[in-house]
Amino acid sequence: MDTSTPESPPAALLAAALAARARAYARYSQFAVGAALMDEQGRIHAGCNVENAAYPEGLCAEAVALGQLVLAGGTRVTAVLVAADAATPITPCGGCRQKLREFAAGGAVPVWSANTQRVLARHTLAELLPASFGPDHLGPR
Ligand code: THU
Repeated sequence: MDTSTPESPPAALLAAALAARARAYARYSQFAVGAALMDEQGRIHAGCNVENAAYPEGLCAEAVALGQLVLAGGTRVTAVLVAADAATPITPCGGCRQKLREFAAGGAVPVWSANTQRVLARHTLAELLPASFGPDHLGPR
């Protein structure tokens, strides 16, 4: 049963993000992150951050989760949850906001922030990335 409310995420989304976080390769920052995305079919795709000795080559959890969604044939992101062991709510970095925007079902897509204890915040993608640039700006394809 989906016990989520408009303010609270689906339990499966939170569980997937926390499970992904446990797999993080955060050797350099020690900051393990998990992300979970819901697609247009209600399926959940998760990712963790994957760092690299060449620091800028590291991948954010959101980017890894997006790759999973696309690989599984997903075309739209309908909900996002990011989890890290942080006291203040962690939101996707600027680059990941843009990456998520490419596949977002709209600006109202919820982006929850959680730590290992509880859900800390909920934003919409449009709040995190207002007046965003997207595929429509490039014209029909
Ligand atoms: N990180 C994410 O994976 N997602 C976020 O939303 C913020 C930051 C990662 C990148 C890096 O591996 C570590 O967290 C510290 O910045």
